[in-house]
Amino acid sequence: MEKERNPKATSQSHSNLPLIFCFILLVHRVPLASGKEVKEEVVGYGYKVGSVNTGSTGQSLTADLSIIKKSSVYGNDIQHLNLVASFETKSRLRVRITDSENQRWEIPQDIVPRKNHSPESHLHSSPLKHRVLLESNLLLLSYPNSDLLFTLHNTTPFGFSVTRKSSGDVLFDTSPDTSNPNTFLVFKDQYIQLSSRLPIKRSSLYGLGEHTKSTFKLKPKDAFTLWNADLGSSNIDVNLYGSHPFYIDVRSANDKVKAGTTHGVLLFNSNGMDIVYGGDRITYKVIGGIIDLYFFAGPLPDMVIEQYTELIGRPAPMPYWSFGFHQCRYGYKNISDVEGVVSGYAKAGIPLEVMWTDIDYMDAYKDFTFDPTNFPLDKMKKFVNTLHQNGQKYVLIVDPGISVNSSYETYIRGMQADIFIKRNGIPYLGEVWPGKVYFPDFVNPAGRVFWGNEIKMFRELLPVDGLWIDMNELSNFIDPAPTPIFYPGRPTLHD
Ligand SMILES: *[C@@H]1O[C@H](CO)[C@@H](O)[C@H](O)[C@H]1NC(C)=O
Ligand SMILES: *[C@@H]1O[C@H](CO)[C@@H](O)[C@H](O)[C@H]1NC(C)=O
Repeated sequence: MEKERNPKATSQSHSNLPLIFCFILLVHRVPLASGKEVKEEVVGYGYKVGSVNTGSTGQSLTADLSIIKKSSVYGNDIQHLNLVASFETKSRLRVRITDSENQRWEIPQDIVPRKNHSPESHLHSSPLKHRVLLESNLLLLSYPNSDLLFTLHNTTPFGFSVTRKSSGDVLFDTSPDTSNPNTFLVFKDQYIQLSSRLPIKRSSLYGLGEHTKSTFKLKPKDAFTLWNADLGSSNIDVNLYGSHPFYIDVRSANDKVKAGTTHGVLLFNSNGMDIVYGGDRITYKVIGGIIDLYFFAGPLPDMVIEQYTELIGRPAPMPYWSFGFHQCRYGYKNISDVEGVVSGYAKAGIPLEVMWTDIDYMDAYKDFTFDPTNFPLDKMKKFVNTLHQNGQKYVLIVDPGISVNSSYETYIRGMQADIFIKRNGIPYLGEVWPGKVYFPDFVNPAGRVFWGNEIKMFRELLPVDGLWIDMNELSNFIDPAPTPIFYPGRPTLHD
């Protein structure tokens, strides 16, 4: 959470990469006032369909795609792509498009386990019954009890759509508008673009968090940047601490569709992206990874969420007390200050379930330590004991930036366990509240052991009921990072 601290960090965060994609070049020739013409370049020209295979079970379809014409804007196009559409359950359709020759970044299976659908394993596991060349311009994939229907359009450029079988309602439609290259599929190493038409009067979108917006229903013309940033949530129209490339689309009625019929769309991609919502279109502009779309059939909002969390994992159950009234702020001076707030609630007759304390309690902002003067451990113990006797709970903050200090035990244990995030073989040096820090790598199993052990020891010192893990985006006050960055073939910072 952003505290009023380092205005530099906040303003500079706006220089993050994805914003540049607001300025997508395209169009034809733009006459200048001088009469000269400037030729602006097109980002991509789309792909065409080569051969198409359907799996023997009829649950999937594979298509080879090839680039129609190359463009070097934002890098070279990937020339050959592979598209796999498959029904994973009757309410879940997956459409995966990736480089047919090279493996690309995907969220690791141990973080979110899911079906393996690399084209190779798909082809090997289900021998082809037939090889279909597109005769009509459409190829359909459906599944017995599913309300979803996938259609491949053999147009130039190609497109695909997802339709609701029972009503014919088109849920997602990437068929390009040939007069507008912004609607074409573009697939480069560091720029992927995918656009779908939406029925402007009947489509209401919710999701694409986390952002501060004035409404829950997404407003056309808003840009949604998914790029985790530790920005204060009191600011409007900023991206926050998490990235959720998922929306639900609640449709209003027409003669076939019941009002409130809902489906969900997830782009399973962890790279930075802008999502441009124009009311009649939604366009993804992503700086890496692959296209891995999941469509959830619903048809009611709660059913969509059920189907979505079946894939990405259910939320952890919250303790009952966490639904009570909490008090939290930054800037308490000492433990008596905090005690005074708790007793103030009691005097005013306001039931207070949980008291929190921000980084004020730490010794020089080092995690798992107590300020010996203002928040000494013996007084903290007495305070927590009193809270517990009153049936109240206590939550303390920790920020996963570990102070680089060779006489600080958490740091020493972290170095011994070798669990800090590295770049080019050395721990990445950042700066947070305590000054210079290293960041534990939670993806490393040994990092999780280290972190769990630090928390266990901390709770043996003080039996807190909850921890507020803050700034784990990761949040860093430094921009750009001071750790030298070496790219092969490019000058280093010192050149
Ligand atoms: C705690 O902080 C308050 C506010 O700054 C101050 O008035 C008070 O004297 C302090 N108490 C102790 C015991 O340090
Ligand atoms: C390093 O940590 C020790 C132990 O917590 C502390 O006494 C010391 O002031 C710290 N040094 C710096 C430079 O922060």
